[in-house]
Amino acid sequence: NTEEEQTEDYLFKIVLIGDSAVGKSNLLARFARDEFYPNSKSTIGVEFQTQKVEINGKEVKAQIWDTAGQERFRAVTSAYYRGAVGALLVYDISRRQTFESIGRWLNELQTHSDMNVVTILVGNKSDLKDAREVTTAEGKALAEAQGLFFIETSALDSSNVSSAFETVVREIY
Ligand code: GTP
Ligand code: MG
Repeated sequence: NTEEEQTEDYLFKIVLIGDSAVGKSNLLARFARDEFYPNSKSTIGVEFQTQKVEINGKEVKAQIWDTAGQERFRAVTSAYYRGAVGALLVYDISRRQTFESIGRWLNELQTHSDMNVVTILVGNKSDLKDAREVTTAEGKALAEAQGLFFIETSALDSSNVSSAFETVVREIY
């Protein structure tokens, strides 16, 4: 069966989206290389990294795409979303504005992606407890209303970073 042969070494394309400086590039750096950059620069254009993920004892390859949150640095959106089967929709729990942008990102994702993309809402920078502007309950409520998975992460202290990516891969798989 040709279809089965093709799906065997399928590469899952996953996209990272969300406002500038929410921590998309650092989530990827933490997940793929266990690195963190305290002074990372804004992404320009598109970068991607392939990472092996173990799901139920089986190895799956995820190709994770990262682009600029800033409009002027972004690559052509349709190309970015083409073929994506998973998405991490990221905001910064210490900046409410980035949470308020989620609707717009979700809209862009739904406009440009051609399939039912497995999407997780990610509240990043959970380490910034004293600066929190978005409660966990608010994040959960939005995710539930939109039919998304939900998790809070910290690229800085590593908490839940692997889980965020693995949740998406597991659901696609
Ligand atoms: P664009 O490429 O402009 O879209 O931004 P981005 O979403 O890729 O953000 P990036 O990963 O470059 O991180 C922006 C800033 O937030 C950097 O100074 C990071 O060090 C910091 N940062 C990222 N993740 C965390 C986190 O979990 N906790 C804290 N405290 N800082 C973080
Ligand atoms: Mg970036």
